[in-house]
Amino acid sequence: MSKIIEDLNWRYATDLFDPNKKVSDTNLKILKETLRLTATSYGLQCMKIFNVESKEIRELLTSAAYGQSQVKDASHLFILCAYKTVREQDIEEHMNLIAKTRDIPRESLDGYAQMLNTTVGSWSEQNQRTWTSKQTYIALGKLLQSCARLRIDALPMEGFNADKVDEILNLKDSNLTATLFCPIGYRHKDDPIQHEIKVRKTIDQLIETV
Ligand SMILES: Cc1cc2nc3c(=O)[nH]c(=O)nc-3n(C[C@H](O)[C@H](O)[C@H](O)COP(=O)(O)O)c2cc1C
Repeated sequence: MSKIIEDLNWRYATDLFDPNKKVSDTNLKILKETLRLTATSYGLQCMKIFNVESKEIRELLTSAAYGQSQVKDASHLFILCAYKTVREQDIEEHMNLIAKTRDIPRESLDGYAQMLNTTVGSWSEQNQRTWTSKQTYIALGKLLQSCARLRIDALPMEGFNADKVDEILNLKDSNLTATLFCPIGYRHKDDPIQHEIKVRKTIDQLIETV
C-alpha cells in the first residue's frame, strides 16, 4: 500500500498521550518547517503559531479546553492563531518580503499590493477573520500529515474557549486569536482509541465524478 495511505491509517485523534515521551528537537524542527511551508492564500501567512512550553500555561489552557488532558500531557502543544483582520501594514510587510526574497524592486509589486488591499479591504472584519482562520486549518492538515510521517501522534482540537485562551496568551490587545490547538507526542499504550477501526464514508459516497 502507498506510504501516504499507511501514514493516514496509522494516525488517529489521540485521546491519551504518554507524558514521559518527548518529541526530539530534530523532529520538532521538521514540524516547525512544515508549518512555515504551508500554503496560504496569496502567501500572506496571516497567522502565528505558539509552541507552549510553560507547564503553568499548559495547565491554564487545559481548563480553557474543558479539561481535555491532552493539552497538558502531550510532549508539545502548538496553538494556531489567525489574524483578526488583514491590515494594510500586513500586506505591505508581505510585499517587502517578496521584494527582498526575490531581489526585485518593491515598486514592481505596487499593482499587486493595490489589488490585495482593494480585495481584502472590501471584506467585513468578520469575513476577514473567517478567511484567515481557514488558512490555519490548512496548516493543521499539513501538521497532521507530517506528524504521521514521523510517527508522532497528534490531536487536532477546536474544543476550547477561544476567549479564555486569548486571555491566557495575552492576545486580547493584539491582532491575533486562537483558532486551533494541536498537542503532539506519543500515544499512551493504554489509550483504547488507538485500536478502534476508522469510521469513514466510502470513496463513492464522498467523491462524485461528474
Ligand atoms: C478541526 C478539528 C477539531 C477537532 N477538535 C477535537 C477536540 O477538541 N477534541 C477531540 O477530542 N477531538 C477533536 N477532533 C478529532 C476528531 O474528533 C477526529 O479527528 C475524528 O473523530 C476522526 O477520527 P480520527 O482523526 O481518529 O481518524 C477534532 C478534529 C478536527 C479535524
